Amino acid sequence: MALTVTHAAAVPEDVALLAVGVRSDHLDDDADGADLGLLGAQGFEGKVGQTALVGGEPMRLLVGLGASDDLGPAVLRRVGAAIVKAAKREATVVVGVLDHVAEQRAASAEALAEGLVLGAYRYGEYKDADEFVKLTEVVVAAKGGKTVAAALEKGVQVAAAVTLARDLVNEPGGSLTPIAFAKRAERAAEAAGLTIEVLDKAAIEKAKLGGLLGVNRGSTQAPRFLKISHEPAKARGFLALVGKGITFDSGGLSLKTADGMIGMKGDMGGAAAVLGALVAAPVVAPRLKVVGYIPLTDNMVGGDATRVGDVLRARNGKTIEVLNTDAEGRLVLADALSLATEDEPDAIVDLATLTGACMVALGDRTAGLMGNHDGWIEQVEEASDAADEPVWHLPLPKHIRKGLDSDIADLRNIPTGRYGGALAAGLFLEEFVGDDIAWAHLDIAGPAWGFEPHDEIPKGGTGFGVRTLARLMAGFRKPGPATVD
Ligand code: BES
Ligand code: MN
Ligand code: ZN
Repeated sequence: MALTVTHAAAVPEDVALLAVGVRSDHLDDDADGADLGLLGAQGFEGKVGQTALVGGEPMRLLVGLGASDDLGPAVLRRVGAAIVKAAKREATVVVGVLDHVAEQRAASAEALAEGLVLGAYRYGEYKDADEFVKLTEVVVAAKGGKTVAAALEKGVQVAAAVTLARDLVNEPGGSLTPIAFAKRAERAAEAAGLTIEVLDKAAIEKAKLGGLLGVNRGSTQAPRFLKISHEPAKARGFLALVGKGITFDSGGLSLKTADGMIGMKGDMGGAAAVLGALVAAPVVAPRLKVVGYIPLTDNMVGGDATRVGDVLRARNGKTIEVLNTDAEGRLVLADALSLATEDEPDAIVDLATLTGACMVALGDRTAGLMGNHDGWIEQVEEASDAADEPVWHLPLPKHIRKGLDSDIADLRNIPTGRYGGALAAGLFLEEFVGDDIAWAHLDIAGPAWGFEPHDEIPKGGTGFGVRTLARLMAGFRKPGPATVD
C-alpha cells in the first residue's frame, strides 16, 4: 500500500496519533508532560529512533531525536523510519518533529520524507500483506511553508525511485529476465518523461557488444541493452550512469557454490539504482543531462556457454581472455563504459555488485569507491555523505594492473595475483573509460542487499545508490581536467 506524505503548517484537528520529537538533552521540555520516570523505566531516553506510546488526546508517540547538536538529515531519516514502524497500526499519523531542527531544514525535511516512505517498504509480490498494517497517510506538521512542502515532496519522489530499485532487486531472476527488466524500464521511463532506447539481441550484435554477448551465451534468455535519457534543452552538464544488470549470476561454467548463488537474483542492483536515478532526475536535476547505460543478461551454464579461455572482443575493440566466467560483471560493463565514453559525457559513475572481495574489505554496508579523478571522487563522496549511504575510497594500484595482462589478448578478466580483488576489478573497468573523462566506480556488492534490517534499510534489496545519485545529480559540477599520474 502506498504511503502519502503531505505537509501541514500546524497540527490539524481530529488527530488520532501525533508523533512528538524528543531530544535526549531536552527530555523535560519535549516530552509534553509525559511521565519521564515511567518512560525511563521503559528504556526511553530520547535516543535516535527510540519510540514510546503515551496516552492523551490525541494519543502521543514519543520519538527520540538524539542530541540537539546532531539533529540533521541523517537523524531525521532514521526518525522517519522509526515513526512509520511504530505507527503502522493507525491509518494516519501526524509528525511533529521537524520544528526542532534549526539548520539544514530543507535537507532534513527531504531526508525525513525518505525515512517515512522507505521505513514502510515491504516487498509484497508473493506474500499477503500484514492485515494489521493500516498506515496509509503521514502528515508532517512543520513551519516553513512551501520550502518544507517542496523538500518533503522531493524526498517522497527520491524514495519512490529507491522503492522501484528495491522491487527490481527483490524480484526473482526467473521472473525478472532481461526482457522483463526492459519492459519495466520502458514503463518507468514513460511515466517519468524520459526517452529510452532498447537494444535487442540483433542490435547488440550489430553494436559489437562482445562482453555482453559472451556472458549471454550460456543463457536461453535474450539479452537487452538499455539507454535511458533525461535530456533537457540547454543542459548545464552531462552525467553518464552505468549499471551492472546481471539478472541472475550462477557463475557460468566457473559455477558458484550452492550457498554462493543465494542472493544472486540481486546482481542487477547497479542497473536498478541507475534506473531509479533516471526516474528521479527530472525532479532533482531538471537542467542536467543524464543518460543511463544498462547491459542486461543472466549468467548461465547452457551447452554453448562461454568457455574458460575464450576470448571476447568488447565494444571499444579490446580483447579479453575469460579465465573465470564468474567475473562476468566487468565483461558487460566493458561494453557499457565504452558506449558511455563514446557519448563524451562530462563524467561517468558506474554502480555494480561486482566483487565479494569488496565485502571482505569493507563489510556489507559500505560501497567501495574507485576512480581516475580526485575531484570527481570527492563529489561522489559528498553526495554519499548527504545521502547517508556510506562509501569508502579505495586505490587503483599500478602493480595490480600488471596482473591483468594476458598472454594472448589485451586483458585477462581475473588477475594473476590473489589480493585486492575489488581493486583489480576497478582497474579492469578503467580500461574501457576514455582517459579524459572523469570516472568513478562504486562496488555495491555489500550494501545493495540488506542482511539485517535497521532504520530505513529492509532485508533484501536496499536500492543503495539511488539516494547518492540523486544528490550527485542535484549538486553536479563539471569536473576539471583529469589529474595525471
Ligand atoms: N556478482 C558477483 C559478486 C558478488 C558476490 C555480489 C557476493 C554480491 C555478493 C560477481 O559477479 C562475482 O562473482 N565476482 C567474483 C569475481 C572473481 C571470480 C574474480 C567474486 O567476487 O568472487
Ligand atoms: Mn559472478
Ligand atoms: Zn555477478
